[in-house]
Amino acid sequence: MGSTLSPSNDEPVADAFPVHIDIDLSSKCNLRCTFCHLSYFDPPQSTQITAGQFSAALGPDLPKIKKLTLFSKYEPLTCKDFLPIFEQVCCHEIETYFSTNGVLLGPEIAGALVGRLTFLTVSVTGFDTAAYKKHMGSDAFARVQENLTHLNQLKRQRQTHLPQLRLSTVAMSDTLNDLPMAIDFARRFDMTEGVQVTSLIAYDEFFVSKIPILNQEAFRNAARSAQAYAKERGVKLVLQSGTLEENARETLDLGHRACHIPWHRLSIQPNLDVFPCPVASVRLGNLGTRTLGAIWNGPELAAFRLGVNDPDRMNPDCRDCAHCRTKSVARIEVNDRSQSNTCYAGMTRKPAAPSPREDRR
Ligand SMILES: C[S@@+](CC[C@H](N)C(=O)[O-])C[C@H]1O[C@@H](n2cnc3c(N)ncnc32)[C@H](O)[C@@H]1O
Ligand code: SF4
Ligand code: SF4
Repeated sequence: MGSTLSPSNDEPVADAFPVHIDIDLSSKCNLRCTFCHLSYFDPPQSTQITAGQFSAALGPDLPKIKKLTLFSKYEPLTCKDFLPIFEQVCCHEIETYFSTNGVLLGPEIAGALVGRLTFLTVSVTGFDTAAYKKHMGSDAFARVQENLTHLNQLKRQRQTHLPQLRLSTVAMSDTLNDLPMAIDFARRFDMTEGVQVTSLIAYDEFFVSKIPILNQEAFRNAARSAQAYAKERGVKLVLQSGTLEENARETLDLGHRACHIPWHRLSIQPNLDVFPCPVASVRLGNLGTRTLGAIWNGPELAAFRLGVNDPDRMNPDCRDCAHCRTKSVARIEVNDRSQSNTCYAGMTRKPAAPSPREDRR
């Protein structure tokens, strides 16, 4: 989680090739969680990668890639070619991972993943039908549980521990009391990677008052008792941004935790645009016209790296870093994006996004 890099004077060394690729296979989602950027912003294009595009853009480089994360901002299982793309990836020795809402994780997808995908995160916020509907805007809570039950049966049948499962849930003022239910859920579905808790970023005014830093005492108490509850039950519990105290300490010098991402990873969008990390808005190039290697060694990324961990020439993206592992949860401007007209990788605010008012729930 936290890095030991000190500000500006200890520049990381870039790998010869990006050993870790983050790729959004689709810019769509089957849900509209009330808290998610997708409810308030549109991607530059609503699109998805075909198996042919994936093979042309990444095929020759797959033998050099060590880790492949098949999502960052959208829902990977909405990609129609998910299965043929996953088959291509499985021909190589690559650690694979993605996060999903789990609704489309039916028998066919589970059949392809079990014994082959390394890590799988399932995101759930709200642990009964009504709470799931309130936060995730969908009646699919039972479906997600059925899908997980079936996936675990397949794991037992095939005698495999893959994919290693994890639950992700969003911490905001009205979900803090749900953390014990999240821990029980992870235990019930044999989630050996436990529970990861992300700290709410507000994309709409309605959510601003729910941000953890504006509810410090409640957040501290909930995190402390959840840690104890998880420990008693042998479930891992990870606050992605650390406790408020740890995060404030680790982000004091730079405004974000020291970040090594652009020295090891690149982030690819479904239209093949390439970015230095999953939350940056500086576009480095497109794989339709340049290779991954050319972008990796190009002047745009070299210039971006200079502004990641140096307070004197910080990139605007990094100054207000929104990455759940590196962001500050202590500064309100990082976590309140309700007035911003743009979002990650060129997303723009919807003309009239409806606010999820209490009376609509
Ligand atoms: C944007 S989703 C994309 C992958 C997939 N659709 C999923 O839900 O797992 C990635 C993660 O971001 C979390 N997330 C979404 N909106 C958030 C917000 N406003 N603040 C903090 N975490 C958020 C989700 O709960 C999910 O675990
Ligand atoms: S959090 Fe995931 S499932 Fe929910 S709307 Fe966003 S991308 Fe879709
Ligand atoms: S925006 Fe954040 S995650 Fe991305 S390179 Fe900058 S500091 Fe790292």
